[in-house]
Amino acid sequence: MLKKIEQITAEFEKDAASIENPEALENLRVKYLGRKGLVSEAFVMLGSAAKEEKPVLGQALNKMKVSFDTRYNELAKNFEKKKTGTGNIDLTLPGRRQFTGRKHPLIQVEDEVKSIFRSLGFTIEDGPEVETDYYNFEALNIPKSHPARNMQDTLYVSEEIVLRTHTSPVQIRVMEKKKPPIRMIAPGRVYRRDTPDASHSPFFHQVEGLVVGENVTFADLKGIIQAFAHRMFGKDIKVRFRPSFFPFTEPSAEYDFNCVFCRGKGCRVCKNTGWLEISGSGMVDPKVFESVGYDPEKYTGYAFGMGIDRIAMLKFGIDDIRLFFENDLRFLRQF
Ligand code: PHE
Repeated sequence: MLKKIEQITAEFEKDAASIENPEALENLRVKYLGRKGLVSEAFVMLGSAAKEEKPVLGQALNKMKVSFDTRYNELAKNFEKKKTGTGNIDLTLPGRRQFTGRKHPLIQVEDEVKSIFRSLGFTIEDGPEVETDYYNFEALNIPKSHPARNMQDTLYVSEEIVLRTHTSPVQIRVMEKKKPPIRMIAPGRVYRRDTPDASHSPFFHQVEGLVVGENVTFADLKGIIQAFAHRMFGKDIKVRFRPSFFPFTEPSAEYDFNCVFCRGKGCRVCKNTGWLEISGSGMVDPKVFESVGYDPEKYTGYAFGMGIDRIAMLKFGIDDIRLFFENDLRFLRQF
């Protein structure tokens, strides 16, 4: 009889191990634990066992029944879990949306500008936002008395210290440290005393460009600006240069891109001109070379500015610069 119990147990073990669906589990229950199952059968057999064997056999049978019950309940629970998920978790609930961080649209555009110029052989340079009067003005051929100081409304920290009004001081800092050839851009934040409105902010972002070497010409400047316009906005975007004035370049020019919305046909944004003003540029003034100790007879160069905020507004079709600085997630999540 003990042998028989061992046999049933072994068989049960084997059957239980291969249960793969609720139907098989039900068959298992009927075969072993059902009213006419093997366990009941064995209990019936106990009736005809010898009196002195009964306590031992009874104990063994009970142990077997309990272990079958436990195993059966375990398996049943597993199938239950699979049906509704895992225990108390309701898989039918809509998930909680996780927002991943992303780059600010201005950083995205700055990265793109950097990568375009990097591929054109430019290095990336950096300079302080809190500048001395010397680097921001003096060395760029803007002496104290110069009317050009009124072109930019400067935020002064003290008489000699300013928040840089443009990225041009980085030109001076790089030229002081390196000998030509120089081929660099310098992106960064600049400050001006402006009342905020849709197109003005007391701080915004520029990219400075500077190329110095032997036989660098205005044609090189035009070529680089044109290449940038193509890469940033598309091959159909043309560039034009208009005579202008900056104390640190001679000759100077402002440059325009074809309107990126109407592609030059004329629309509301470009006031029907087909052109959008981008920034200033020109050939480095010999006075600037003198202030960094470069020989103006030997070297020539060009410089240009670029507004990152303006480019981002054109790229994404944003009509208010202040949106960049409000950090409203509803705005930022769109990019
Ligand atoms: N620094 C000028 C500005 O802020 C732009 C500029 C850069 C012009 C380089 C000429 C050369 O407007």
